[in-house]
Amino acid sequence: MTDSFSRRSDPIGPQSVPPDGGRSATQPRWRRDFPIDWAEDDYVSRRELLKFVVLTSGAFAAGQLWILARSLWRRSAPRPGPLAVATVDELPVGGAKTFAYPSEGTTRLLVRTGARTFVAYDQRCTHLQCPVVPAVERGKLHCPCHNGWFDLQTGEPTGGPPQRRLPRVDLEIRGEQVYAVGLEKGAT
Ligand code: FES
Repeated sequence: MTDSFSRRSDPIGPQSVPPDGGRSATQPRWRRDFPIDWAEDDYVSRRELLKFVVLTSGAFAAGQLWILARSLWRRSAPRPGPLAVATVDELPVGGAKTFAYPSEGTTRLLVRTGARTFVAYDQRCTHLQCPVVPAVERGKLHCPCHNGWFDLQTGEPTGGPPQRRLPRVDLEIRGEQVYAVGLEKGAT
């Protein structure tokens, strides 16, 4: 039986063969004081590895389920109704304003690009969520946080770190009123 006493009297026992294979008495003091049970150490390592693999796989599966559930929820969520966000002449050509749609806390940016043309996007930069601002004279939207750029007409990234385009808000002009009527897929 290998108990703590026998280990203490022969610290580097048969289960803890030193890496050089030498006898206990020839080992340095530190190795005798802190013997490593190599067989046990291997066993623990395999067990730790297995635990790591199981936990990582579980976390990955949970993440996938979360993404799936969120996408199903989004698909089944009712399309937001129309919201009057501006009158046509409220903004000069090149002017912009922000509005919340479909609920408070979801800020969108509306830009008048022509006599009766407007674009609106989620104001959160697709890099790290800083608010973008219009740079209409350059035909772009600018994110000052890390100098990100987006095309004003399409929302596509054109410079800096952003890789995804800004989600668009669908607009309709009815008479003299501009309405937000929906969100592009992926916008929240
Ligand atoms: S947050 Fe917009 S470029 Fe980084």
